[in-house]
Amino acid sequence: MSDAIIVQRAPIAVDVTEGKTYYWCACGRSGKQPFCDGSHKDTDFTPLEYIADKTAKIFFCACKHSGKKPKCDGTHSTL
Ligand code: FES
Repeated sequence: MSDAIIVQRAPIAVDVTEGKTYYWCACGRSGKQPFCDGSHKDTDFTPLEYIADKTAKIFFCACKHSGKKPKCDGTHSTL
């Protein structure tokens, strides 16, 4: 499996809605970051489902290397 593409070395903040399902892009190829647009089609990656447990601002990982995917854990600063 090839490595995920680093989209940027900073998270992407998104206001999520409680109960709504989001599909976080794991491959880094999506044009709709931080979410999947189907561009992983020819890779071994699949999006990660995230169901918001509350309405809040979430900092989604954009380096694609977080240890707490789909959320940022600061790993981008070590890449
Ligand atoms: S486009 Fe990246 S996981 Fe779907």
